Amino acid sequence: MTTLWTQRYAQRTQRMQSSAVRELLKLTEHPEMISFAGGLPAPEVFPVDQFQEACQSILGQHGRQALQYSTTEGYRPLREMIARHTARYGIHVEPENILITSGSQQALDLIGKIFINPGDRLLVEKPTYVGALQAWNAYQAEYITIALDDEGLQTDELEAALRAGPKFIYVLPNFHNPAGVTLARERRQRLVELADRYGVPLIEDDPYGQLRYEGEHLPPLAVLDRQLQGREGMPCSGNVLYLSTFSKTLAPGLRLGWVVAPAEVIQRLVQAKQGADLHTSTLAQMIAFEVAREGFLDRHVRFIRTVYRERRDAMFAALRRYFPTDVHWTTPQGGLFLWVTLPEPMDATEILQAAIAENVAFVPGAAFFADGSGRNTFRLNFSNASPARIKEGIRRLGTVLERALAASAAVAEPHSGHVLHRGKCFPYG
Ligand SMILES: Cc1ncc(COP(=O)(O)O)c(C=O)c1O
Repeated sequence: MTTLWTQRYAQRTQRMQSSAVRELLKLTEHPEMISFAGGLPAPEVFPVDQFQEACQSILGQHGRQALQYSTTEGYRPLREMIARHTARYGIHVEPENILITSGSQQALDLIGKIFINPGDRLLVEKPTYVGALQAWNAYQAEYITIALDDEGLQTDELEAALRAGPKFIYVLPNFHNPAGVTLARERRQRLVELADRYGVPLIEDDPYGQLRYEGEHLPPLAVLDRQLQGREGMPCSGNVLYLSTFSKTLAPGLRLGWVVAPAEVIQRLVQAKQGADLHTSTLAQMIAFEVAREGFLDRHVRFIRTVYRERRDAMFAALRRYFPTDVHWTTPQGGLFLWVTLPEPMDATEILQAAIAENVAFVPGAAFFADGSGRNTFRLNFSNASPARIKEGIRRLGTVLERALAASAAVAEPHSGHVLHRGKCFPYG
C-alpha cells in the first residue's frame, strides 16, 4: 500500500534488498528440518545457571546502578577485563582504547557511519561476512574484492587491489564466516606490510579466534601491525581496528561486542553511538562481567571447544562418507562454519529448494559475495546440531547433491580477481 512514507525513502535504502533465499529459509523452522543454515551457537552450552546467579547478585547488590543509564564507552570493569584478555594475545591497550558495542554488528555499523562516504571503495574478501555488507551497503559503499583460498585472502592479488584506492581493508583472519579458512601466518605479515606501504588501514573482525580446535594460535593483524610500526607491547592501537564479541563465547542474546581502536577513533565512534543508542545495556554489561570474571570465561571457552570440535569432526566424517567426490569443502581448524564449492555451473539456491524438500538446509553462498558471484557455493554450520543430526543431515544432503550432479553437465571454472562492485544487501547472516 502506498502511503506518504513509501515515497520518501532515502536513496540509500535502494541497496537494502530482500532476498528470495530468506523466504526459503523461513521454511527451515520446522522441527523435522536439520538446518545447517544459521550461524547459531549451541544453546545447550549457554551457561544459564551462571547467568541466573549473576542476575541475582547484580540486582541484589548493584540493582540501581544496573538499571540506570551509563556511559557510552561501556562499563569500565568490563573494558578493563577485555584489555587484560586481549593483552594475552599480544594486543596491549588501555580501557580508553575499548568501546563496548551492542554486538560487534553495531561496531561494523558505527564504522560505516564515521568512515564511509557514498561511493567509497572498501576492500573485502570474496566471500565475506554478509552482515558487514549489510551494514556498509546502507552507507552506499562500493567494493573491491579479493578471492580466498584454503589459506585465506590471496595476498598476491593485494597490490593491484590496493592501487584502486580502498578506504580500508576488512578481513576475517580466524575461522572465516562463511569460508571457515584461517589466514596463513606469512599472508598476515604480507597483508600488514602492504597495507602499511599503501597507507590503507585494516579492520580485523575476530569473533571466532578463541574457538580453535587444533593447530597453533596465529598472531592477530593488530599485533603484526604494531611490530611493523616498532610499537610492540606499547599500550596503543595502530592502523588496525580490532573487533570481537561475547556472542560466540557467552551468549549472542547479550548483544555485547567491542572495538579496539586508537583513542581518537574511539571518541568518534562514541559520538556515532550516542546517536544510535546512547550506550549498550548497563544490565547486560554488568551481568556479563559478573559471569565472566574469576576465570569462568576461560573455563567455559575450553568446554565449548570440546563440544564444537566433536560436532566439526562429525561433519567432516559425514562429508567424507556421503558427499560426492567432485564437491570440495574447507577443513576449518576452529569456528562454526565450513564452506562447500560445487562444480560450475551448479546453483546452490536451486539445490537448497531440493534440500528443503528432504528436510535439510544450508545458506547458499552468493549472498556472501559483494560481486554477486559464488552461485556454486554454500555455507554449512556445525555448531547448532548434535553429532547424530549432523550425520543424518549430511547424508540427506549427499543424496540431494548426487541427484543434482547427475542432472547437471558441470564444468568447473574458478572465479578470482578484484573488481569494483556496487553493494547489495542480503538480510540474513
Ligand atoms: C564475522 C562476524 N562479524 C560480526 C558478527 C556479529 O556478531 P555479534 O553482533 O553477535 O557480536 C558475526 C556474527 O555472526 C560474524 O560472524
